[in-house]
Amino acid sequence: MNNMGYWFFNDGDKGQFQSIPLAKLEANHVRIRADYSSINYKDALAVTGKGKIFRSYPIVPGIDVAGTVSETTSNHYNVGDKVLVTGCGLGETFAGGYQEHVDVDEAHVIPLPISFSTLDAMLIGTAGFTAGLALLRMEKLDQKPDLGPILITGASGGVGSFAVRLFSLKGYEVVAQSEKTNKRDYLLSLGAKNVDTLASLHLGNKPLDTIRFGGGVDSLGGEVLSKMVAQTNLYGNVASIGLAASAKIESTVMPHILRGASIIGISSANTPRRMREEVWSMLSRTLTKENLSLIEHTIINFDQIPEMAKKFFTREISGRVVVKIASTQDRS
Ligand SMILES: NC(=O)c1ccc[n+]([C@@H]2O[C@H](COP(=O)([O-])OP(=O)(O)OC[C@H]3O[C@@H](n4cnc5c(N)ncnc54)[C@H](OP(=O)(O)O)[C@@H]3O)[C@@H](O)[C@H]2O)c1
Repeated sequence: MNNMGYWFFNDGDKGQFQSIPLAKLEANHVRIRADYSSINYKDALAVTGKGKIFRSYPIVPGIDVAGTVSETTSNHYNVGDKVLVTGCGLGETFAGGYQEHVDVDEAHVIPLPISFSTLDAMLIGTAGFTAGLALLRMEKLDQKPDLGPILITGASGGVGSFAVRLFSLKGYEVVAQSEKTNKRDYLLSLGAKNVDTLASLHLGNKPLDTIRFGGGVDSLGGEVLSKMVAQTNLYGNVASIGLAASAKIESTVMPHILRGASIIGISSANTPRRMREEVWSMLSRTLTKENLSLIEHTIINFDQIPEMAKKFFTREISGRVVVKIASTQDRS
């Protein structure tokens, strides 16, 4: 049987849509008939070649996939099971979600939570999972609404949108930062109490500044992250998630040693299985269909991936981009 995928054969090559015969399924693996994948910032870096994401060739990008098990050599999954995978090397070290049939080690596969369709799972994808992981990790370090507002940067993006919704659903006051002034109403509808641009936030330059936030979720990196920590309350936490503005931080130890404020590292792709299950379980309890319908999203076809990936760097995206891999009519 052939498998249509968006292949990158060598370092520096452009992607090509090609149908290639399926290989024999390895031991303890499942073959997933993909319904949907998504485009995350990391996928956009990979597809456009702006970031060195691929660790081996040939490769298919797509760090997320949800679909149905069509073949299995695993004792844990049966043909017909609905499943999802986010991260774990998918679309980086082994062929990812932008293909019809995705072979994955059983260790990386998560049974689809009963309350979610495969479309819901990919609307959430790595972005929503990462926002949920940040919430979970911060609360394990005693983050509480009474510590003060949570500043969420890059709020109109995938991670940002889910972070705004999740934190506000959990009773936190959310300050959403976005440079897209036309997304103000959207962010308020997700539960933000205030929406600011970087300029209107006036984050200041002091290594230890007046306390304004209980914590934060940061997609930008660079000086924004250091400034957020300098204004974080005693024993508050800032989840460091992204580098959309810069991969560098210049900081001092002052907020850490004088206020006990922490920067928490978030690496969604490398999250241990127990924690991944915990996050998906929390997301399935928290994100009702109504909540999911609030997240702006675009559903694209397979062949629109290259064009859509470019838009991540011209700031034309808000919310999530879901990629439809197979239509139900395609199924045999
Ligand atoms: N650590 C992890 O496990 C993990 C997981 C997922 C994502 N990430 C990272 O988190 C970040 C966000 O990912 P995403 O999928 O949510 O991406 P996204 O949908 O593109 O959102 C990023 C947002 O950041 C803002 N932004 C982009 N470029 C910027 C710039 N140069 N200066 C200031 N703001 C900028 C934009 O927000 P506004 O237009 O609203 O200002 C944009 O919507 C990325 O860096 C990604 O690599 C990390």
